[in-house]
Amino acid sequence: MDIRIAVLGGDGIGPEVTAESVKVLDAIERRFGHTFSFVMGACGGRAIDEFGTPLPEETLDIVKGSDAVLFGAVGGPKWDDPQAETRPEDGILALRKGLDLFANLRPVKVYPQLIDASPLRPERLDGVDMVIVRELTSGLYFGKPKKRWTNSRGRTAVDTLTYREREIDRVARVGFEIARLRRKRLHSLDKMNVLETGRLWREVVTEIGAEYPDVELIHMLADNAAMQMVTNPAEFDVVVTENTFGDILSDEAAVIGGSMGMLPSASLSAIPKPPNSRRPRRAGKRALYEPIHGSAPDIAGQGVANPIASILSTAMMLRYSFALEDEANSIENAVAAVLADGLRTPDLATTLGGAIGTSDMGDAIAGRVRG
Ligand code: IPM
Ligand code: MG
Repeated sequence: MDIRIAVLGGDGIGPEVTAESVKVLDAIERRFGHTFSFVMGACGGRAIDEFGTPLPEETLDIVKGSDAVLFGAVGGPKWDDPQAETRPEDGILALRKGLDLFANLRPVKVYPQLIDASPLRPERLDGVDMVIVRELTSGLYFGKPKKRWTNSRGRTAVDTLTYREREIDRVARVGFEIARLRRKRLHSLDKMNVLETGRLWREVVTEIGAEYPDVELIHMLADNAAMQMVTNPAEFDVVVTENTFGDILSDEAAVIGGSMGMLPSASLSAIPKPPNSRRPRRAGKRALYEPIHGSAPDIAGQGVANPIASILSTAMMLRYSFALEDEANSIENAVAAVLADGLRTPDLATTLGGAIGTSDMGDAIAGRVRG
């Protein structure tokens, strides 16, 4: 296959980890005989510095001319002034909205080799394997009005939480389709006890559920889910929820496995279909893959960031955008193998000393992929 990938490294550790992903994709290319071409684009804070905008026109053109986007991370203290006109995060938000990437898949897996690095007791980690499906293009992030003003009573700010039926419908279907391929259990999280949007959410998800009688649907309040996720994480298979709850809960779920540095994500513009279905497992022409961790400015430039979340994001890319299941598996197996070999970046190391850097971890995984 001839595949064009837009690489937007962004800020902080973003460019460091995406460089390792490119390394691993080079190894895939050689082993499986594909041709990948990579086109780099500016995004985030560095793009603000250079072009005055976090998502320059040229970057958008690169994205539009590509088959998929590999994204790093954006943001940092340099651009954190609350009064700033434009923020690095506006770049990724504009991409999500502009490409209609409504479904964000965040798989949470516990590697047996990393149990020591988890903040939870080992007995709670047995059987933990879930996918959070986060709605990504609506809710508080994008609702209008969104503004602040000052008058005689002081300063006021407003964000708006809106959900339309079709927005809930399509992301719920993603949850059900994925649950169908797994343990056939879907938790849908909302705050129907307080929010009007939560009541609509519950109603619509229940209706879609009737089309998926083979999937067990469990409604849960989002705050309760936050508690269950650390007391009983193995209960969850697929979790579908709105944008803000998904943002918060996926950070919580991410550390269950030991480090946020391990969690990949896929942002899709269509409902993925199973590989054996007549309809190809296409994620839509537009899709973006990024680690869920941020730009980690505190460790940027030191060569110590864990590249695994980004590397696993490329496995999701091969699977969801290009239906290259064997290639995706070979990356995931390579990651498991280097962990079994005892290789650890500092975020995963439980003892002082012996940890390896970003580039060595990338080399080791690429080496395993080449076989
Ligand atoms: C995430 C991040 C983003 C979000 C930020 C960087 C805008 O936290 O992808 O989870 O809030 O969605
Ligand atoms: Mg987040």
